[in-house]
Amino acid sequence: MDKFKIRGGTPLRGELPVSGSKNSALPALAACLLTEQPMTLYGIPDVKDISTMQSLLKYTGAEVGQEDGAVRIHAKSLDRPEAPYDVVKTMRASSLVLGPLVARTGRARVSMPGGCAIGARPINMHVSALEELGASIEQAYGYVEAQAPKGLRGAMIHFDRISVTGTEDVLMAAVLAEGETIIRNAAREPEVKDLADLLIKMGAKIEGAGTSIVRITGVKRLHGAEHTIIPDRIEAGTFLLAGAITGGDVTVTGCNPEHVAGLVVKMRQAGAEIEELGSGSLWVRCSQRPKAIDVTTEEYPGFATDLQAQYMAWMSIAQGISLVTETIFENRFMHTQELARMGANIRIEGRQAIIAGEAELTGAQVIASDLRASASLVLAALVARGESTIDRVYHIDRGYERIEEKLATAGANIQRIE
Ligand code: EPU
Repeated sequence: MDKFKIRGGTPLRGELPVSGSKNSALPALAACLLTEQPMTLYGIPDVKDISTMQSLLKYTGAEVGQEDGAVRIHAKSLDRPEAPYDVVKTMRASSLVLGPLVARTGRARVSMPGGCAIGARPINMHVSALEELGASIEQAYGYVEAQAPKGLRGAMIHFDRISVTGTEDVLMAAVLAEGETIIRNAAREPEVKDLADLLIKMGAKIEGAGTSIVRITGVKRLHGAEHTIIPDRIEAGTFLLAGAITGGDVTVTGCNPEHVAGLVVKMRQAGAEIEELGSGSLWVRCSQRPKAIDVTTEEYPGFATDLQAQYMAWMSIAQGISLVTETIFENRFMHTQELARMGANIRIEGRQAIIAGEAELTGAQVIASDLRASASLVLAALVARGESTIDRVYHIDRGYERIEEKLATAGANIQRIE
């Protein structure tokens, strides 16, 4: 298993380029199952979750190829509308193929994603929404089996709580359903809007994506299209925090500043200087310890749960006491024990973390427990005195494209070791 060896203390300087969004690329790839015509996607990041999704598309019968930075998918016929456990066990987003498969072929058999380090991750809302659209669904032996031999029909869907992949799954099912579907309490994340933009290019009729009410008028079939995935806002946020935590001077390039506005506001309050340079670049500098500033995670456009761990690493060296409240996932504080090994002073009380900032962190051997937790450990190691070893970096490889190479280009002393 690969590890990262990091010697902290070097302020990052230079450019950190952002890749295409993992969480936009995953539903975009699933959406390719909705048409028998060829699809071309640009900006698909080269990360593990994406190769897992590509393996899944191949398993169902789609052809998947790569050339000149484009991913081409041709789901001419889908002989096996299934997502088996062995293919999807490492990826929580397998439920994203449920909607497209049942909409296109009238049946789907998908391994339930199961819980993970950050929480139980149920898919009950995906299931009940698809039932509203007319699918009959059974859950047994770790699989969800959906049948809709006569096709799906439009319905009024009201999500009890906001779900990103739930909204995406229903959107992909409803575009081929007969009649109108309205999704209320829909997720407003940029990734949902990006998926809708792709589906519209494929011939879908969708209004209101990016707001909490989405209207879809079903069409008989969708056609092939080309689409470029939006930049990864979580990678952009992680890099802004990498610049700030190391006391560096960094330009994060190829991002969409609007998508990280929730983080930027907090970072400025904490004392970081951040400027928009135009053409998708954000410059950050932070020459002193940050002030302690509280955050509460919320659905977009609130502060992203996917940046909570990285922000907490920064607050570990803040002047004062900050409160980080996690409202999206019930168990997303696994990084705190590892940050504590590096000298952070954090107490967890239910869904809140109370962080008393320390003047200095020290290098230590730590273990990554999930994707964003691993990113927080990398940030902490970049500022810690001495050397750190981060074990199980396969978690970080699920969602960050060659992060160690990007950080090293900006001066970080980081190495991948076997
Ligand atoms: N939930 C249910 N029932 C459902 C679906 C969700 O109770 O049927 C609950 C979840 O347990 C959670 C809350 O609703 O407490 C919100 O979960 P959501 O469904 O929005 O999460 P997700 O769609 O599974 C996506 C991202 C996550 C990100 C969350 C929240 C993808 C592939 N994943 O997950 O990304 O944290 O939205 O923004 O888009 C990551 O990239 O590290 C990551 C975990």
